[in-house]
Amino acid sequence: MATLVTTPQLMVGEGWDSYRLLDSGHGRKWESFGPHRFIRPEPQAMWSPREDHWPADSEFIPGSDEDGGGRWTASPVLEGAGWPLSWDDASFTAQPTPFRHLQFFPDMAPVWEWMRAQLGDATEADTLNLFGYTGVGSLALSRHGRVTHVDASKKSVAQARENAALSGMDDRPIRWLVDDAAKFAAREVRRERRYDGIILDPPKFGRGPKNETWRLEDGLPDLLRDCRQLLDANSRFLFLTVYAVRMSSLSLAGLVNELFADLPGTVEHGDLAVQEMGEGARMLPTAIFARWSNSG
Ligand SMILES: C[S@@+](CC[C@H](N)C(=O)[O-])C[C@H]1O[C@@H](n2cnc3c(N)ncnc32)[C@H](O)[C@@H]1O
Repeated sequence: MATLVTTPQLMVGEGWDSYRLLDSGHGRKWESFGPHRFIRPEPQAMWSPREDHWPADSEFIPGSDEDGGGRWTASPVLEGAGWPLSWDDASFTAQPTPFRHLQFFPDMAPVWEWMRAQLGDATEADTLNLFGYTGVGSLALSRHGRVTHVDASKKSVAQARENAALSGMDDRPIRWLVDDAAKFAAREVRRERRYDGIILDPPKFGRGPKNETWRLEDGLPDLLRDCRQLLDANSRFLFLTVYAVRMSSLSLAGLVNELFADLPGTVEHGDLAVQEMGEGARMLPTAIFARWSNSG
């Protein structure tokens, strides 16, 4: 039976050449993405900034409605086709999007490292990345074997394939699928497939390619139940992140623990955070997570 660790854990990203959290405060954050710097809204940064002045290529000005919307201030950097960044052996293109992201989520870096640590020296593993977006997580997993990458957005999957080519990984055994994550997982259960590891990073609300509605609070229990069916006592991990939802990581852990009751291993939960650079650095929380790991 999986053991639940009730004390919350912190997974903190300290940044690397392609991404640093330079400063934060007064509801905003200042970050570098390789050679370019940006300011974005960050409601959780309620403290005061350490620096008085934040030189930046562009700032995202949120719209009046809290749930998205807004615009980047004019900048030549918005006109181009993006610029290359990397994390370890994965390369990808960064570019500001109308959704205030830059085509990848740098706070996931400690998760990419953690998944690799769970897989150890495996090179024949089968892993699944649901809601995989532009594929950095899939590229991080691919050194361990076959990867199935699923996302509802044709554009994101096309970008993920371009990122694979940029990384020199276009010949790797990665299945790039445009599909609804919940439907795909249910289909894989019917096919009696198994995986060594699963990562899922579901949005609060989303749509499948056939306009299927995804609502986290409604869909997560069934999706996780299917994910559990796709894993067995020899599998290594499941990693779930949730953000922008009023929910505690304890609630995710309770669900994972219930569903994984008949497997060995450990269920943990907590916050993902990014640490500022330099003196007096603070930790900015970005998401909550629950994870199951099993050393086999
Ligand atoms: C936050 S992103 C995932 C980020 C990614 N894990 C990473 O680290 O780069 C959420 C993704 O979910 C996808 N999505 C939304 N609804 C979906 C659905 N029903 N089925 C599959 N993907 C969906 C979106 O297209 C988007 O790419």
